[in-house]
Amino acid sequence: MRVSAIKVAVISAFLILGMFLGGVITQPKASVDVWEVKESDFPINGSQEDKLKFLLKYAILAPSSHNSQPWKFNVSGDEIRLYGDRSKWLRVADTDQREFYISLGCALENMAIAADHFGYNHSVTYFPTADEEDLVAVVRLNPNDQPSRNTKLFDAILTRHTNRKLYENRPVLDSEIQLLQSQSAETDLQLYMTSDPDTRNKFRGLIVRANKIQYKDPDYKSELGYWLGQGVMGPTGFMAKIAQLVVVLFDTGNGQTKTDAELINSTPILGFIGSKENDRASQVKAGQLFERVWLAAEAHGIRVHPMSQALEVPETKAEVSGLIPQKGLYPQQIFRLGYAEPENGHTPRWAGVAYQFLIIQIINL
Ligand SMILES: Cc1cc2nc3c(=O)[nH]c(=O)nc-3n(C[C@H](O)[C@H](O)[C@H](O)COP(=O)(O)O)c2cc1C
Repeated sequence: MRVSAIKVAVISAFLILGMFLGGVITQPKASVDVWEVKESDFPINGSQEDKLKFLLKYAILAPSSHNSQPWKFNVSGDEIRLYGDRSKWLRVADTDQREFYISLGCALENMAIAADHFGYNHSVTYFPTADEEDLVAVVRLNPNDQPSRNTKLFDAILTRHTNRKLYENRPVLDSEIQLLQSQSAETDLQLYMTSDPDTRNKFRGLIVRANKIQYKDPDYKSELGYWLGQGVMGPTGFMAKIAQLVVVLFDTGNGQTKTDAELINSTPILGFIGSKENDRASQVKAGQLFERVWLAAEAHGIRVHPMSQALEVPETKAEVSGLIPQKGLYPQQIFRLGYAEPENGHTPRWAGVAYQFLIIQIINL
């Protein structure tokens, strides 16, 4: 029996459509509603746990690589436990888990700033026990009844957005750079910001090389496609699945490289965060510093765009240290800083997933 070409085309079209619809239906539900959190909803008369749970509404608005949101929380008594969710680890792009821990540090910092805002003293113990591999930090919180008067960083949590636009051709004022620099108090971390054109050119060269290597790697494209398909990196629903297909099947590397080079050319300031040690705690702390600088920048109308490719590819990573004057530092994060119109809207979050773990923990009690 001969099957006509038309029949084959129709059956294939139905199969592809079925695959797409299946993908859209199974796409985890993410929402931008989480950004509507209102300070006035803080449960003043609620239990201690209700109050601490409220802080998590701010923690989950943190940035994370590919918007993977690799965090889980457990609230109990006067403690919040922060866990890393390895199912969200970008095994190809982030082989060494640097971005995984930096993202967790960003969430931890949002939580700390919110705690300060609502009148809590807090202390953090990093990686308290070897028994629980995924337990990243235990935060102990005590009410001090003195809500922070400096609301700038707290307010910026709700407006912060990765800004991937071309930046305006105007320098960032020295006074603003000083202000961002003042966010960096840790002796084992260094924040380096520069407007040096030579550093910018060298960095652009590293990004071009890193992009070429990554977009030739089918595993990298497949992982990026997977996250695009989850509907948390811009396009949502059906369009997210199309974006996934395009990245996996077509060569989008050249276009991305051209865009990235133009973005870097427009950038007045490049920021680098380096650490003296290269352990997990240093990476979490680097994430905290990164988020604090990002929020301070946001509060002053300065946009931020992390660019991680050069640190994701071993060949280019080895050359990043050469861009930082202080020797012996492990580069942890690189980002663009400058002025641009704000991005529209917000990126979604899986609010339910963040609390799911919490509910499981409560049931287990
Ligand atoms: C550790 C880390 C690395 C990141 N690397 C990149 C990057 O290389 N390129 C990029 O465009 N965005 C990068 N981002 C930004 C995330 O994609 C962004 O935070 C996420 O999509 C959520 O969006 P939002 O920051 O607008 O809330 C990174 C963020 C973090 C925390």
